[in-house]
Amino acid sequence: MGITAPKGVILYGEPGTGKTLLAKAVAHSTSATFLRATGSDLVQKSSGEGARLVRDLFKMAKECAPCIVFLDEIDAVGTKRFDTSSRGEQEVQRTLLELLNQLDGFESRGDVKIIMATNRIDSLDPALIRPGRIDRKIELPKPDEKTKMKILSIHTSGMTLAKDVKFEKIVSKEREISGADCRAICTEAGMLALRAHRKVVCMDDFDRAIKNIIYSKKFGVMEEFYM
Ligand SMILES: Nc1ncnc2c1ncn2[C@@H]1O[C@H](COP(=O)(O)OP(=O)(O)OP(=O)(O)O)[C@@H](O)[C@H]1O
Ligand SMILES: [Mg+2]
Repeated sequence: MGITAPKGVILYGEPGTGKTLLAKAVAHSTSATFLRATGSDLVQKSSGEGARLVRDLFKMAKECAPCIVFLDEIDAVGTKRFDTSSRGEQEVQRTLLELLNQLDGFESRGDVKIIMATNRIDSLDPALIRPGRIDRKIELPKPDEKTKMKILSIHTSGMTLAKDVKFEKIVSKEREISGADCRAICTEAGMLALRAHRKVVCMDDFDRAIKNIIYSKKFGVMEEFYM
């Protein structure tokens, strides 16, 4: 069609919605070279070091093309620029400028695709996610009931469940839980069963697990939690 393929995507959504997990799945299923760095890796103490790392990363990606570069937690370097005299902030901004340059600079990047992930897309510098640098923005929303049931069944696949365990009850009771919470609930329910010297996990364990997980999320760790 005479158009160029999209160069990069950004995955965004609340914590625990599976952004890193999705990138892992991509790494697992692609035959391209997969390079991974997190935003905080690129924030360095000494001047110019972060920018150099970005340059090296893209140089390596070009040499290993076809290649996918995954930049997780990009908000560590990608937040909106502002006037600052703080040395640390200036260094972060220099790293961001190099990243902008590498993403859509004068030199062509070859067959290198970018995946970024963040849970704070609204705080990112608009230049970073403009078309041409990042062409697709993919939201990973909180899971709906059907998805939550599937996630629960994945994370309980190795457990022996009592007959009274109904995932419908768990997902209908707790609307505001992420994929990561689902996993935490399963682990906690398993621990509670283990503590009661049972090999079978029952609904009561799940009920208590939900209470522990939701409570600790809202108010910090419960006292009963570590007794
Ligand atoms: N869709 C899903 N299916 C199965 N497990 C999931 C799903 N979403 C999240 N999880 C579970 O939650 C864990 C944490 O998810 P992940 O690390 O991908 O979150 P994230 O979106 O990267 O969060 P953050 O923004 O905090 O980095 C995963 O390791 C997985 O066990
Ligand atoms: Mg993540």
